Amino acid sequence: MVPRAPAAPSQAPPAAPVPARPVVPAPLPVPLAPQAAAPPGPAATDPVAFPPPERVAGAATLAELEAGISGCLACPLGCGRIRFVFGEGSGQARILFIGEGPGRDEDLSGRPFVGKAGELLDKMLAAIGLERGQVYITNIVKCRPPDNRTPTGAEAQRCLPYLKRQIELIRPRVIVTLGATPLRELLGIQTGITRIRGQWQHLDLLGGIPVLPTFHPAYVLRQYTQEVRRAVWNDLTAARKWLDDAEAGQP
Ligand code: URA
Repeated sequence: MVPRAPAAPSQAPPAAPVPARPVVPAPLPVPLAPQAAAPPGPAATDPVAFPPPERVAGAATLAELEAGISGCLACPLGCGRIRFVFGEGSGQARILFIGEGPGRDEDLSGRPFVGKAGELLDKMLAAIGLERGQVYITNIVKCRPPDNRTPTGAEAQRCLPYLKRQIELIRPRVIVTLGATPLRELLGIQTGITRIRGQWQHLDLLGGIPVLPTFHPAYVLRQYTQEVRRAVWNDLTAARKWLDDAEAGQP
């Protein structure tokens, strides 16, 4: 027979007296090990993360430009993006629309103006007899700013050579800027959009391109008044008329 183990005591045994803690001498200060360096970011010489100017200027097509810059990490926005939003539309578009920067939907899809503001932009285009495939749509910055904030001047200026090369390759006859940011960053105009919209401006590129500022579709959605909608309608009609007149004057 196997002897039975004694039954467990129903009560914990009285605590044994705690021995006095030995006095441990304070450790001698140890010199700090040198801090491990933060993991290095891409080197400024990495041509994928920091596309060199000659690669941008030398891109002969939009596809080549996109391939050359879509790995860009040259500003903090690059490190936070999901997708690089280059722009889309016809490479021969006569009219170019420039917004501010990708939002959440654009960051997820890699396409410009696909969220609510994009739906309205499509309607604005339809109102002047155009659809996406006939125009080109892009932004001042190609990566989404966190929380959809306005891109900083430094971020915008870092991205600007990409936009300028896009413009040189597309050679639009007219540019429509959407909201204050493209006007400020592309033309250096600080005037409020409410005051300046509808007044023709001039971009000093390719011998001069007329630029018509109008409200950003996201603003129109927020201020959906007859006055704001009429203003955008007037601006887009003016851009369309300018285009038609310019083409009619062509041999
Ligand atoms: N707002 C912009 O300015 N651009 C987009 O692509 C989407 C929203």
